[in-house]
Amino acid sequence: MPFVGGNWKMNTDLASSVELADDIVAGCAAFVDRCDVAVFPPFPYLQVVGRTLGHHGILLGAQDVCHMPAGAYTGEVSVDMLLDLNVKVVLVGHSERRHVIGETDDLINAKVLAVLDAGLDVVLCVGETLEQRESGRTKEVNVHQLMAGLRAVTPDSMEQVTIAYEPVWAIGTGRTAGPDQAAEVHRVLRASIGDLYDDDISESIRLQYGGSVKAKDAAGLFARPEIDGGLIGGASLDPEQFKAIVAAAVDAASQEQE
Ligand code: PGA
Repeated sequence: MPFVGGNWKMNTDLASSVELADDIVAGCAAFVDRCDVAVFPPFPYLQVVGRTLGHHGILLGAQDVCHMPAGAYTGEVSVDMLLDLNVKVVLVGHSERRHVIGETDDLINAKVLAVLDAGLDVVLCVGETLEQRESGRTKEVNVHQLMAGLRAVTPDSMEQVTIAYEPVWAIGTGRTAGPDQAAEVHRVLRASIGDLYDDDISESIRLQYGGSVKAKDAAGLFARPEIDGGLIGGASLDPEQFKAIVAAAVDAASQEQE
């Protein structure tokens, strides 16, 4: 089953987060038996968005989490707090946290382990910058981020893991990696997961593509068997676009089954 997430980033306010969640329920609830759909609102709105999502099967996600369980960590949010709010899935290692906030591979790995330990699902984000791509380091950078993020993750917990390939040069820029470019990196990531774990895990793990995905690009990307869904930023703030992207994932999955 494909997996499409909407990362709202630092957008919406109290009223518009409820409105957006309502619209996403109206547009996407009919797809949740054929596609996992998650939204990742800002922390302050998790509770109200969770209530709005109700029991329609759309998953509540968090954009980040603290690696420590509790205590003197001013400004941080723990996995237990997320569990209290019925969060099911957590983004870790988004490029904006790596490159804007300065999170290291070690911190990202600690967050992945904290999320898995709590029984939540994780979307581990990886991706190269433009400079790294242009200097021929795409494969090396993505494999490094993958292996560092998954350090000490047991085969049993890999069921809780999704990987999002998000080339930094395509995020929020309107530049999307073409289906071939995305599929090529997805193959590399899948092969590395096979080396780290086994063939079953590398075949079953879901790899999302993210980076300026709009409704018009979704069908082309999801038609590639290497790509199991998307992590959507800007377009997830528009319920019609988001619905069309989820519908494209459902269509692609049904065609793959034929
Ligand atoms: P974008 O963001 O779709 O706005 O490029 C994607 C992401 O950062 O997850």
